[in-house]
Amino acid sequence: MKFPTDSNLIVGLDRPDDAGVYKITDDIAIIQTVDFFTPIVDDPYWFGQIAVANALSDVYAMGGVPKTAMNIVCFPINLDISILRQVIQGGIDKMKEADVVLAGGHSVEDSEMKYGLSVTGFIHPDHILTKKNLKVGDRLILTKPLGTGIINTAIKGGLASGKIIEQVTSLMAALNKDAAEVMKDYPVHACTDITGFGLLGHLAEMVAGSGLGIGIQTGTIPIIPEALEYAKMGLVPAGAYKNREFREAMVDISSSIKQAVLDIMYDPQTSGGLLICVESKCADELKNKLIKKGMKDTAIIGEVLSAPEGRIVVE
Ligand code: CO
Ligand code: CO
Ligand code: CO
Repeated sequence: MKFPTDSNLIVGLDRPDDAGVYKITDDIAIIQTVDFFTPIVDDPYWFGQIAVANALSDVYAMGGVPKTAMNIVCFPINLDISILRQVIQGGIDKMKEADVVLAGGHSVEDSEMKYGLSVTGFIHPDHILTKKNLKVGDRLILTKPLGTGIINTAIKGGLASGKIIEQVTSLMAALNKDAAEVMKDYPVHACTDITGFGLLGHLAEMVAGSGLGIGIQTGTIPIIPEALEYAKMGLVPAGAYKNREFREAMVDISSSIKQAVLDIMYDPQTSGGLLICVESKCADELKNKLIKKGMKDTAIIGEVLSAPEGRIVVE
């Protein structure tokens, strides 16, 4: 398909990234993104918060600041209107936390509830972080633990405890705002957020066409402990298998890696953390700063290698 072009569209569909970026002047560009989905938790207020944290995340992943948002609402007429009110309230409260203003929105009748946002953010045109631009020796930092897709599968199966539901809900509702602010002070070369393609899917997007490789040390990856237990029980969402099918040809896996760990690396995340590619000499300092700022599970999980070209080595 041939998409329309414009010299001011700096990041567009010719090289898909977390969001589109359009240059307005030499000093300012707008970041645009849209995301909405069906409820992933039972509590409507929390669902609203998660949907907003997820929609804003792509702006943070580009290194930008989200400013305005429009609600996108799909709602069945036979559902109690107070549920919709709670969803919207959760969304508004999360936008307030992010210092984002709701500028409007649109709702349609649908067979299943859906909620999300279209978001506009700002960035300096010279400071855009994309999935590309990896440099040999860079370290990869992940700011949230993995396993939310597997835990959500366990929740749907009625197997998760109230405590773990609460934990994973607040994890998904946590903004990537602080992570984006902290990384601005460091020599970050590339960034993305971990969502539906899982860790390995998003690493594959980063390494593809880079002429470089990526090495991942599985022992350092932050994982929600219960997710590992559920993965061992086979509670793995269909999306994880799809992600593996799509990307396994790019991944070299050491024979010592357990299947459950691999499942978690392909597990589709909802509102996952930022994956930050930073110059090696600053990696420890950035990691410690992120932990100090409250992202306590932040870890350095791997590095950029000169070879094997376009591949991910999992050890
Ligand atoms: Co993204
Ligand atoms: Co998105
Ligand atoms: Co990015």
